[in-house]
Amino acid sequence: MSIKIQPEAIANLRGFELPERLGFGTVMAPVMFRARYEDGCWSSGELVPYAPLMLDPAAKVLHYAQSCFEGLKAYRNGSGAALFRPERNAARMQHSAERLCMPPVPESLFMEGVRTVTAYCANLIPANSGESLYLRPFLIGTQPDLSVTASSAYDFYVIASPSAAYHPGNMRLWIEREDSRAAVGGTGDSKVGGNYAASLQSIARLKERGYDQSLWLSPSNRQTVDELSGMNFFAVMDGVLHTPALNGSILEGVTRDSLLTLAREMDIEVHERDIDIDDLLALVRSGTCSEAFACGTAAIVSPISELGDDNGNYKLNSAPGPVAEKLRAALLDIQEGRSEDRFGWIQRVEAAES
Ligand code: COI
Repeated sequence: MSIKIQPEAIANLRGFELPERLGFGTVMAPVMFRARYEDGCWSSGELVPYAPLMLDPAAKVLHYAQSCFEGLKAYRNGSGAALFRPERNAARMQHSAERLCMPPVPESLFMEGVRTVTAYCANLIPANSGESLYLRPFLIGTQPDLSVTASSAYDFYVIASPSAAYHPGNMRLWIEREDSRAAVGGTGDSKVGGNYAASLQSIARLKERGYDQSLWLSPSNRQTVDELSGMNFFAVMDGVLHTPALNGSILEGVTRDSLLTLAREMDIEVHERDIDIDDLLALVRSGTCSEAFACGTAAIVSPISELGDDNGNYKLNSAPGPVAEKLRAALLDIQEGRSEDRFGWIQRVEAAES
């Protein structure tokens, strides 16, 4: 299928200047990719100006949350850009779409969307280490109809935001013992908007207590660690790296998988297993658990300095710790092109003339 490039999109790119200071996801690139699904078929994609969406107020997404998304990054790479493991995001988005009874975006369309936006926005990729062009593909049900059935029409978009890391600096985590982010048999392992909505009340509560993120426990036992709202969890105990095993309620993070691969390459012993929260806190108190960190596409690797709950505070010895630092550096070296792409994780994109 051929991609249409709207002349207004090119005009928008020409008039755009990257601000000096970047947060995460606040500055939007002035173009976006769009494809539509109707009568069982996908339209060809187009690059259009970034603009508010026209949605019918009865669109299914607004009422029944038929919405899933992805997050991936493009880095500077010579005169063009490098995408990091985008095929993993394409596959995960298909999994999320199927869980919500939405038509999976074909891998070829997903790749066309992220590659087109990356190619036209290559000049907007920030140059500082740790900064990148954050790409946000998403799929929404647009059929205007209030019956609780799957939408018959969908829009797939890719928007982009030149961004810094999601949470620069150390994080204090509140152990969430009241609410659950995911349910047994629910959507915890899918990247769907509802999972994030369900985490917001907890985050609002913990911010009042001076914490940064919730540490969610398994919905099946309320005792083992699952993840943070938008990041996976790792702890280092006696030099061994531990992370919760994928159990159906944890999102299978691309960064999580990449760090496990890099740790094994560094001969760091790795255990994917159930981590009991009370055992973990005892190991933090005794100093056996010396460091903990969270990771994700947006967050990269974020050190955890403290865990807290109603019983008190548990401070980690080192934040950032040596293992987190080594893994973060090894990951960024590949993503930002300073070391060889020995795992075949990088897909190069040539800049498009605009
Ligand atoms: C990501 O890391 O890409 C995420 O989606 C996390 C978040 C900002 C929701």
